Amino acid sequence: YTEEDEVRTKYYTFYKELHQLYKSKLNQNQIAIEYLKKRGYDAREISLYEFGFSPVDSKFPQQVAQRLGLSKDELEKFGFSNSDPFAGRLIIPIADDFGRVIAFGGRLIGEGVPKYLNSQDTLVFKKSSTLFLFSFAKEYIKQVDYVIICEGYFDALAFHRAGIKNAVATLGTALTKSHVYKLKKLTTNIVLAFDSDSAGIKAALRSLEMLISEGFNVAVAKFQQAKDADETYSKFGMEGLVKVLDSSIGAEQFVVESVAKQYDLSNPSGFNTFIRALRNWERLFSSNPKSLEKFYEHASTTAGVMKEELKNLLASQQLQN
Ligand code: UTP
Ligand code: MN
Ligand code: MN
Ligand code: MN
Ligand code: MN
Repeated sequence: YTEEDEVRTKYYTFYKELHQLYKSKLNQNQIAIEYLKKRGYDAREISLYEFGFSPVDSKFPQQVAQRLGLSKDELEKFGFSNSDPFAGRLIIPIADDFGRVIAFGGRLIGEGVPKYLNSQDTLVFKKSSTLFLFSFAKEYIKQVDYVIICEGYFDALAFHRAGIKNAVATLGTALTKSHVYKLKKLTTNIVLAFDSDSAGIKAALRSLEMLISEGFNVAVAKFQQAKDADETYSKFGMEGLVKVLDSSIGAEQFVVESVAKQYDLSNPSGFNTFIRALRNWERLFSSNPKSLEKFYEHASTTAGVMKEELKNLLASQQLQN
């Protein structure tokens, strides 16, 4: 029983008690409850996902620290100073892989910036390796042998509410290697379900680069009638999310289509830049022959040339600038 174990035990207790306080305040705050109801959450879901609320005058972190006999220094190490950064916000608990609460996300109730606040990294919480809802999802991921990765809290929640429980979300950061090492123990199949806006597409491309080089088999979901999974579930229910998953496309097609959108293929210089931009992807896909073949097929169709000619263009030194 080391000193570090002792600190960690205190940490879990602190977060558990703070979370209890936030949860108990939610039921007393009609505006926060109304907000969740407006997003479609019923009482059962509100209690299942253990949302909370931090009142505007919250001194909860300090109160819990005092009760547990934590020093100012310890409280700081646990992520809080002398105010509650989440005051006035809806509280979303962030758990570790075993379901212990180790951090919070705080959403403004209504509009404003920043829309979300997340706990800073601590000795226990590392944003870059934590996946929201992972502890709920891990058994299902193994069962169905694929994982759905979303970009927002409410997106991963939407899948779970629809009974599609193999979904997780990053915490407002890029997908990292530590995220995916965790997933690799459960599955090598991934569906990226990022937002349909340009930020979401960029994030998907960046994630794909890493996922392909890590040997994952990746498909990308397309949100066409809504901007993200949460909105899809609100508007079209479970059926909407199932449709989105069913119409997800292979990484090869997604890459070619998204890269093509960045250039004007009808003029020679745009066309050449497009081909050059594909070279990095050709190299990435080349670790898997089937995948490389799919990539060539989609690229040649999009470029409007035969497959052999496409390969020649990709290999051509003439196209250097
Ligand atoms: P989005 O801007 O797509 O938000 O950011 P969202 O999840 O759709 O939020 P709702 O539906 O309006 O509630 C995606 C994710 O990026 C992080 C959050 O984790 C969010 O879920 N984020 C976003 C932040 O950390 N801070 C912000 O200010 C905004
Ligand atoms: Mn977004
Ligand atoms: Mn979104
Ligand atoms: Mn959203
Ligand atoms: Mn295809």
